[in-house]
Amino acid sequence: MRKHQNLYMNVAKILMVSLAFAFAINVNSAAQSGDAEAGKQKSITCAACHGVDGNSPVAQFPKIAGQVPGYIAAQLANFKSGERTDPIMGAIVGALSEQDMDDLDAYYSGQQISSGSITADQEQQARAGEAVFRGGSAEFNVPACMGCHGPSGSGIPPNFPRLAGQHASYIETQLLAFKSGERNDPIMNPIAFPLSEQQIKQLALYISALH
Ligand code: HEC
Ligand code: HEC
Repeated sequence: MRKHQNLYMNVAKILMVSLAFAFAINVNSAAQSGDAEAGKQKSITCAACHGVDGNSPVAQFPKIAGQVPGYIAAQLANFKSGERTDPIMGAIVGALSEQDMDDLDAYYSGQQISSGSITADQEQQARAGEAVFRGGSAEFNVPACMGCHGPSGSGIPPNFPRLAGQHASYIETQLLAFKSGERNDPIMNPIAFPLSEQQIKQLALYISALH
């Protein structure tokens, strides 16, 4: 009888250890990366505004397809903590767990962003934007955008977001929000602050057509 009890105890111990091990592995992989397939299921609630694959057809809503891995999860967490405020997104993120954010990140970062285009009469404005994007502005102490966002605007994971192909009006709104301090970021606030509204418009046009 005693022998059996010992055996049961040992089996129980082994089970507990292997369960703890399996749990540790699960927790680890969850923290490192999300599950794109699970993210696809969870993205159904996002599709109305951001499009099925993250390429929102409406300029009012940002494209989130093809974003650098890690950026979407970070922004969702910012909306949830209140560090970044938006009445629509603020209401949506309340229901999302950290795992949901990682899964959504994995799904959208695996999609391809659609390219934008500008009209012939916007081209001159976009050229002026290109000069600041590539060379910055020494006069206003603005660094070249491509230093962090990449020469083609495709971003650098996980902190520097992709800009190329984004709706011009969204880029413009965000730069104005960084300029006024309404959107808070220690890096982008001082960069956007000296930019004029015209420079912001020109940058937005250039970036939207980048691919
Ligand atoms: C009712 C419309 C709506 C729905 C539904 C919606 N969003 Fe948004 N989303 C917005 C708007 C508007 C913004 C721009 C907010 C701003 O101006 O800061 C935004 C911004 C974002 C951003 C920031 C993008 C960037 O480039 O910084 C992310 C990420 C995002 N949404 C993800 C999601 C996800 C994931 C879901 C689904 C769980 C979702 N959204 C559902 C309207 C929506
Ligand atoms: C020193 C690095 C750096 C430089 C240079 C830089 N950025 Fe950024 N940019 C960032 C970081 C970091 C973020 C993400 C901020 C956050 O997490 O909210 C960002 C975010 C943005 C966003 C918001 C994107 C989105 O999807 O919401 C826009 C638009 C942007 N930058 C435009 C520019 C432009 C235009 C320039 C040049 C005038 C520029 N940036 C130069 C680091 C930089």
